[in-house]
Amino acid sequence: MKLLVTGGCGFIGSHFVREILATRAKWRVVNVDGLTYAGRGRNLDDLARHPRYRFVRADIAGAAMAPILARERPDAIVNFAAESHVDRSIHGAAPFLRTNALGVQNLLDAARGGRFLQVSTDEVYGSIPGRRRAREDAPLRPSSAYSASKAAADLLVLAARHTHGQDVVITRCTNNYGPWQFPEKLIPLMITNALVGHPLPVYGDGLQRRDWIHARDHCRGVLAALERGRPGEIYNFGAGIEPPNLVIVRNILRLLGKPTSLIRHVADRLGHDRRYAVDTAKARRELGWRPRIGLADGLAETVRWYRDHPAWWLRLKDAAFRAYYRRNYGGGALR
Ligand code: NAD
Ligand code: TYD
Repeated sequence: MKLLVTGGCGFIGSHFVREILATRAKWRVVNVDGLTYAGRGRNLDDLARHPRYRFVRADIAGAAMAPILARERPDAIVNFAAESHVDRSIHGAAPFLRTNALGVQNLLDAARGGRFLQVSTDEVYGSIPGRRRAREDAPLRPSSAYSASKAAADLLVLAARHTHGQDVVITRCTNNYGPWQFPEKLIPLMITNALVGHPLPVYGDGLQRRDWIHARDHCRGVLAALERGRPGEIYNFGAGIEPPNLVIVRNILRLLGKPTSLIRHVADRLGHDRRYAVDTAKARRELGWRPRIGLADGLAETVRWYRDHPAWWLRLKDAAFRAYYRRNYGGGALR
């Protein structure tokens, strides 16, 4: 099996590439990544000389994709490449539409047979009120440019199935956490701020709920959908727990032995979705998938990883954070 993974230098894609190489002894992986701000070749440094791994730098929305796919002729494509942060999409939607929608159509057009797995998100269902959980046939009600561009991609993927009979599968997962996540998302942002005693910005009342799943559990789901999913089907993944953001933030502070006085309630995100929740019965029934990593263990592992890898994340923080770090720690290593 020759698998072409896009976005393999990003947070979840890098976990996926590692999972494949570790558990599928005969598979080869070609990782196509454009290396945006979020994609770090270094995330996969340890694989540089792996005999079954190859990296190709390319933009999934660019003209190079057709010749790359014609040359590589992969047996399957798994598309992780995306602009992935809601806050950035509020300030500028264009790269989201380009990569997440046009890029997906470009990949579909260039793909020559084989399975196409689109890694989507539960955010396409929009905010879910009460205790309901969205099933795969729930209406699409995206409420940010990020989730709207991901919903557009899902519709383009389903259209390719309808029009050309392409073998496609879509997965929709809840919020991921774990090592290697860019420190702009809630969990790594709070851990890294707390590590140096910088304030922790909680949007609004902090009572918004997300269903946090470890990236490795998500990746096992994507692999199960790739191997066992039915063509044209959609599969939800989630851990089924939905703590409010404030609980996550307090747990991070507790794990690091830092005071809750670091928490700052700041202006709410525009159009902030209150709650995401999905029904994962289909994935459990059809794919035999279930999450294995509990939030307490996963969060503790993640906190340890960021504590032990300051060199990885310090240079990824924004200018204000770096100025704070210089003021308090000079040029020295993290204490
Ligand atoms: P990420 O931002 O960490 O990584 C994205 C990767 O895509 C980076 O390596 C980047 O360089 C690459 N990329 C971006 N634009 C590209 C382009 N035009 N051409 C080629 N490569 C490009 O994202 P992530 O958190 O790892 O998310 C991966 C996928 O999973 C995304 O499709 C996202 O929508 C989906 N998803 C993420 C979450 C989450 O909680 N992070 C949850 C559900 C689904
Ligand atoms: P995020 O990690 O950006 O993921 P998403 O918006 O895709 O769910 O945010 C998770 C939750 O944390 C969301 O409710 C917004 C909130 N949040 C904060 O309160 N402060 C922050 O600095 C960030 C980045 C997020």
